[in-house]
Amino acid sequence: MAKFNENYLNVKESYLFSEIAKRVNAYTAANPDKKVIRLGIGDVTLPLADDVIKSLHSAVDEMGKAETFKGYGPEQGYDFLRRAIQDYYKRNGVTLDLDEIFVSDGAKSDTGNITDLFSVDNVVMVPDPVYPVYVDTNTMNGRKIIYLDANADNNFLPMPDKSVHADIIYICSPNNPTGAVYNKEQLKEWVDYALENDSVILFDSAYESFISEEELPRSIFAVEGAKKCAVEFCSLSKTAGFTGTRCGYTIVPKALVSKARDGREMSLNKMWNRRQTTKFNGVPYIVQKGAEAVFSVEGMKQAKAMINIYRENAKIIADTMKKKNVKFFGGVNSPYIWFECPNNMNSWDFFDLMLNKINVVGTPGAGFGKNGENYFRLTAFNNKENTVEAMRRFEILF
Ligand code: MLT
Repeated sequence: MAKFNENYLNVKESYLFSEIAKRVNAYTAANPDKKVIRLGIGDVTLPLADDVIKSLHSAVDEMGKAETFKGYGPEQGYDFLRRAIQDYYKRNGVTLDLDEIFVSDGAKSDTGNITDLFSVDNVVMVPDPVYPVYVDTNTMNGRKIIYLDANADNNFLPMPDKSVHADIIYICSPNNPTGAVYNKEQLKEWVDYALENDSVILFDSAYESFISEEELPRSIFAVEGAKKCAVEFCSLSKTAGFTGTRCGYTIVPKALVSKARDGREMSLNKMWNRRQTTKFNGVPYIVQKGAEAVFSVEGMKQAKAMINIYRENAKIIADTMKKKNVKFFGGVNSPYIWFECPNNMNSWDFFDLMLNKINVVGTPGAGFGKNGENYFRLTAFNNKENTVEAMRRFEILF
């Protein structure tokens, strides 16, 4: 009998959002008359923008004609999209070479897949609470994980502890699940720590488009030195409603190099290219054409308009928290509102209470780590009507 990867014995039976979906489906099946409002998984609800749809349609037509039909595309993404991403970074003050940009089917896959490039004996540092993908994928590989406390005392923005060494550090800013955002000085401390410790920062910027305070960094590469120690993952899921369409990008700087035991230089950029060309056949041409439209002037305007609608919802939720004196984080530069459960309640119990009593779905903080035990996350990704109604019901609980 083949030996199975026993590291899978060390991950929870099901992925957090699968578990939530299972519970919600059971509830709706048993209570078909109830109107359940979903503010749980961070899944967008607005349709794709007009210019994206136009671009998708014309790409579909191209696929139907012999002269414009496309077969396998470049695994790294078509140059037209890589250029659009390069320009987007340039507008935000970051210069990238085209071959540092890899188009992907999203940040979730790439934050998991990048683990292929690192030896299993690396020590991985994650904040607690944390997006469960970072923990689960490294656990599946058998890596040692150390946790850094994020809590109300540090505004859920833990800073490096110089007495602790980590080889790989995951940072998500704006943060999922807490909505907290590092400023440039704080990110600089992380970059300095990584450079001193020869560590690599895996920076997830999937929520950068929610940043409304202009001085906050949207990319780790806004920080000097980051190209020597960081990889960045971003996605159009939240920026432009691509959760179902699937398109993201990963930036692997060429300056990020290390020495092998035999003294040879290893380039993470070359390794990622090698991995992708071997294991990935690229994002569909049609999807990449849709993604290209997001980065046009008009496309950006339309994406911003969508984000603004979600921002309004976040404000509705935040205002309710203020009105009810509930301590919360996020909701300003992030679609997530992270708050304390009432009466020190356990977050899964609060999940059940919300579902059964007011028919509103959220995400229990415990699903993100032990520091989330008494916290709860709501998302702004619903329509205004549902958000207002969810908050009307929510007030009953406090
Ligand atoms: C979430 O709800 O945390 C997100 O949907 C995660 C993701 O983007 O995979």
